[in-house]
Amino acid sequence: MNKSKQLFTQITSEGQLEVSLKELDVPAPKPHEVIVRIEAAPINPSDMWPMFGPADLTEAKYDADKKLMTAPIHKGMLPRIKSRLDQVLPIGNEGAGTVVATGDHPAAKALMGKTVGVLSGAVYSEFCCVPMQACIVHNENTTAKEAASSFVNPLTALGMVETMRMEGHTGLVHTAAASALGQMLNKICLAENVPLVNIVRNQQQTDILTEIGAKYICDSSSPTFRVDLYKAIAATGATLAFDAIGGGELVSDILTAMEAVGSKDAVGFNTYGSEANKQVYIYGGLDFSPTVLNRAYGMTWGIGGWLLMRFLGKLQPEQVAQLHKKVADEINTTFASNFTQELSLEEVMQPQTVLKYNAKKTGEKYLVNPTKA
Ligand SMILES: NC(=O)c1ccc[n+]([C@@H]2O[C@H](COP(=O)([O-])OP(=O)(O)OC[C@H]3O[C@@H](n4cnc5c(N)ncnc54)[C@H](OP(=O)(O)O)[C@@H]3O)[C@@H](O)[C@H]2O)c1
Repeated sequence: MNKSKQLFTQITSEGQLEVSLKELDVPAPKPHEVIVRIEAAPINPSDMWPMFGPADLTEAKYDADKKLMTAPIHKGMLPRIKSRLDQVLPIGNEGAGTVVATGDHPAAKALMGKTVGVLSGAVYSEFCCVPMQACIVHNENTTAKEAASSFVNPLTALGMVETMRMEGHTGLVHTAAASALGQMLNKICLAENVPLVNIVRNQQQTDILTEIGAKYICDSSSPTFRVDLYKAIAATGATLAFDAIGGGELVSDILTAMEAVGSKDAVGFNTYGSEANKQVYIYGGLDFSPTVLNRAYGMTWGIGGWLLMRFLGKLQPEQVAQLHKKVADEINTTFASNFTQELSLEEVMQPQTVLKYNAKKTGEKYLVNPTKA
C-alpha cells in the first residue's frame, strides 16, 4: 500500500484538457485521518465539470502509453475557468471502500477494517487519505458498491426536504425528477408525507416514478404540461422547487404555475401578485443555456442557487451525524443506487466510455472501481 494510482485533471492555458493516471506515495495518516482503499466511486453529474470543464469531448483522444486523455477547449472559454488553468487537480467527489490504515486517535483506530463512504474530491484513486469526519460508517453487511453513493445524492435529497421545513414551505416541486437523486427524494417524501410534484420529460421517466409510488408527475413533453403542472401545484400547495436543469423556461413555468394557484381566488386589484413566497433553487446545470424568465408571477418570488456543502454548513454536528446514520441504515432501500457498468481507472479515460457516462441518462450511472485491473 505504499503507492496509489490516481486520476487527475488539468486544463492548460493553451486550451487542452488532460486527464491522466499518475502514481503517488500513500501518505502516513495524521492522528485523526484514515486511509481508505477505494472500491467503488460513482461518476455523478457534479464530477463531470471538474473533470472535463468545457472541453469538446467528441474530439477526445487517449494515449495508452502515457495513460493520458486529451480534448480541445475553445480558447474563448478559458477566461471562464481562469482559476484552474495549468493546475493538476484531483477528481472524484465521493466513493466507498475499506479502512486499511488509521492515525493514532482512538476514534480513527475504531474505523479499522470498516466499510465507509467518503467525501473527498480525490476518490478516483486506489487509496484515499481523509479525516475520519469525512466518513459515513456503514453497517456490518453493507458492501462498498452499495455504499458508493452515500453522500452527494442522499444528503442532497434529505437537504431539500429539510430546506423546505426550515424556510416554511409545505410541498416541493422537483425537475429532472427521475434522476437517481429524484428517485431517492420520492421515497423520502412518501415516507414523510411531503407532497412532491415531479417534472420529467418522457414516458419512461413517468413509469419509473409511478413504480416507486409517486403521486404527482408532470411530463414537460406533453401538450398539456402547463395545465398538468398547475393542477399538481394546486393539489399539493407546493411553493418551493428544486431545479436540476437551469437552462430554458422551466423555472419560469414553475413560478407562473405557483402564482396562478396563489392568485386563483384573488378579487379586485392583484397588482403585485399572490402573497405566499414562491422560491426556486437551481441546484444543477444539466442545460447550460440561459435561464429564461417571463416575470409573470408578481413580486413575491425568488430564484437562488443551492449547494449541498453550504446547506450542511448550516447544521449542527449532531444533525449531520443523524443524517449520516439515516443514510447508513437505509442505503439498500431509500438510498439504493444502481450502476450500469464498473470501470477501471484507465477505462474512465476511454473516449467512447466518456461519451456514454457524460450523457447523464436516466438509470445510466457508472461506477469507478480502482481495484479493477
Ligand atoms: N447542488 C448540489 O449540491 C447537488 C448535489 C447533488 C446533485 N446535484 C445535481 O442533481 C442532479 C441529478 O443528479 P443525479 O446523479 O441524480 O443524476 P442522474 O441520475 O445522472 O440523472 C440525470 C437526469 O437528468 C436528466 N437530464 C439530463 N439532461 C437534461 C436536460 N437538459 N433536461 C432535462 N433533464 C435532463 C436525465 O434524463 P434523460 O435520460 O432524459 O437525459 C436524467 O434523468 C444533477 O444535475 C446534479 O448536478 C446537485
